[in-house]
Amino acid sequence: IAIAPKAVRGTIFFLTEDPGTTIDPVKSYQYYDDGILVLNDDGHILDVGYATEMHSKYQLAAHTVLNYSGKFIFPGFIDTHTHYPQSEIIAAFGEQLTHWLDKYIYPTEAHFADKSYASSASRFFLNELLDNGTTTALVFGTVHKTSVNALFEEAEKLNMRIIGGKIMMDRNAPHYLLDTPETTYIESQALIETWHNKGRIQYAVTPRFAITSSPEQLAVAAKLFHAYNGVYLQTHISENLSEVMHAKQLFPASKNYLSIYDDFGLVGPRAIFAHGVHLTDEEFSLLAKKKATISFCPTSNLFLGSGLFDFRKAQQENCHLGLGTDIGAGTSFSMFQTLNEAYKIVQLHKAYTDTPQNEITLTPFKAFYLATLGAARALYLGDKLGSLQPGKEGDFIVLDLEAIPLLKFRLQKTQSLADRLFALMMLADDRTVEAFYLMGKRWQKVDRPRF
Ligand code: GUN
Ligand code: ZN
Repeated sequence: IAIAPKAVRGTIFFLTEDPGTTIDPVKSYQYYDDGILVLNDDGHILDVGYATEMHSKYQLAAHTVLNYSGKFIFPGFIDTHTHYPQSEIIAAFGEQLTHWLDKYIYPTEAHFADKSYASSASRFFLNELLDNGTTTALVFGTVHKTSVNALFEEAEKLNMRIIGGKIMMDRNAPHYLLDTPETTYIESQALIETWHNKGRIQYAVTPRFAITSSPEQLAVAAKLFHAYNGVYLQTHISENLSEVMHAKQLFPASKNYLSIYDDFGLVGPRAIFAHGVHLTDEEFSLLAKKKATISFCPTSNLFLGSGLFDFRKAQQENCHLGLGTDIGAGTSFSMFQTLNEAYKIVQLHKAYTDTPQNEITLTPFKAFYLATLGAARALYLGDKLGSLQPGKEGDFIVLDLEAIPLLKFRLQKTQSLADRLFALMMLADDRTVEAFYLMGKRWQKVDRPRF
């Protein structure tokens, strides 16, 4: 039953600023132990504050306030890099990037020429995101235009803010998955004109990576990226050492991997580069200078044995940063589990550096910032998403901290908010997510049609 309550009550927490690396950055968040979030009829957030204050300010009638006492209310998570067609091949054994693509991924992506196949996979994928508390994602389709039509149609039914695009690839992959600079232009353009800014859908021009696109095709990507206002660009960069070598061989005139993309005009605001595990200092600086975004994909980097992302360097350079699950190289849809492994990667750096005292950790505040407002800002959606401040879109989740016995047990011994958030990021998963709201509309896991 979809009753749209005007307000929800519970423990409300969200970041309002980048907390940096301080352990308890008091001015960067809002926390209401007993709070109320008030919604507009159109699903935007009208106000947020202590329950007593909101009651007297808005004279809220009891039946319009849905009570989640004892539960946490958080902004929905934002996943800045994932592949919906790879959901069904998650956890494929034994390979690193190139062989993994050849052996598992390309054969799987071939199925997405079929619309009904793509539609049911899209439903499965969106359900998984939402069950895990992720309300927005930046998503790769396959080379087939139909794969993206399917994804956007399903996202539109949920009124979910999804950014996605059709893969462009015209070389170094099986013939059955290749397009051409001409067909990629026509098909991507048609998708942009049909879908970009339709409701909450946005388009991302999607060259898979430098290895699978000819120079002509990267030029087409740039043309589309610059022709349409607000369109994104998503691709992969420096994930794996042999990938980096291959890319440089293919583009000998470019100074480094990033400059391959930069030479075509693909590096700038709204361009999101997944991985960046092996970026040089020079590349980090250029990314920061050009205000492009890196998507850090910890579970994927560990699963494929790609390497350890240099979070400290990204911080130092002030790079725009988000987190990605990178399904199906990533091993979890859960942003909690993604933060868990991000933390471990940051910790591991200390084992490989001469100056451990200069190292930083991933604090729980920073971690939840990256999963919410930080990602929203990195996607230039900071005015719409990522916190529960007035005017934002009403995308939020309700967390039951007692759903997992071990987490509940651990929380009894925590003292500070930082401790509790840290326990959450290490131990929570989809069981913790009780409900989610998209544009103020409540969906309970059990309410949703299953596919
Ligand atoms: N690089 C190029 N394509 C892919 C992909 O599908 N997944 C990952 N993890 N890296 C890639
Ligand atoms: Zn990827």
